[in-house]
Amino acid sequence: MPDGIHGRRADAVYIHGTAESEQGRLAALNRLTNQSFVDFLELKRNDSVLEVGSGLGMLAAEVAARAPHGEVVGVEYSAEQLAATKVTQSNLRFQQGDALRLPFEADRFDVVYCVTSRTRRRPAQALAEMHRVLRRNGKVFIQENNILANEFYPDCPSSTLFGENSQDFNDSSAATL
Ligand SMILES: C[S@@+](CC[C@H](N)C(=O)[O-])C[C@H]1O[C@@H](n2cnc3c(N)ncnc32)[C@H](O)[C@@H]1O
Repeated sequence: MPDGIHGRRADAVYIHGTAESEQGRLAALNRLTNQSFVDFLELKRNDSVLEVGSGLGMLAAEVAARAPHGEVVGVEYSAEQLAATKVTQSNLRFQQGDALRLPFEADRFDVVYCVTSRTRRRPAQALAEMHRVLRRNGKVFIQENNILANEFYPDCPSSTLFGENSQDFNDSSAATL
C-alpha cells in the first residue's frame, strides 16, 4: 500500500533481510562499533534521544543505559526488524516510522542519531527531518560506512567501476527503502 508521500510501501523490508545470518552480522557489527559511538554521543543522564533506523535495537539499548533518567526512542521502517527486537528497558521504546517523515512533533529530542541506516537516497530530506525534531541546542550524530572506499590488495582494476557507477549502485541498493 503506498504511504502517500513517496509512494513507498508501508510494509517495506530491510534491504539486507532478516535471516538469522544477517541478524548475526548486525549483532557482530554492534559489538565492534557501539562502545565508541555511545562514548561519542556524550549523553546527559536525562537526555531525550531518538535513533533513526534502530534495526534490532542493540545500539539503542546501550544508549538507554547512558540516559537512565531520560528516554530513548528507536524509529524503524521494517516491521520485521521491529518484531525481531529483543531488548527491553523502562526508558526505551521502538516504533515504526520513516526517516524521511519522522512521526514526531518539532523540537522533541535533545539528541538524534543514525547509524548505517542507508538513507542515502534522500540524505538531505533525512537530515532535514532529524533537524526538525531536534530541540534548540540539540545535537545530531550520523555514522555511515562508505563501501565505495573499499581498498583491494592485490590491486583490482575493475573496482574503479564502483566509482563510475556509484549513482546506479546507490539507487539500486536503496530501491526498497
Ligand atoms: C544496517 S541497519 C542498522 C541498525 C542500527 N542502527 C544498528 O546500528 O544496529 C539499518 C536499519 O535502518 C532501517 N532503515 C532504513 N531506511 C529507513 C528509513 N527510511 N526509515 C526508518 N528506518 C530505516 C533498516 O530497516 C534497518 O533496520
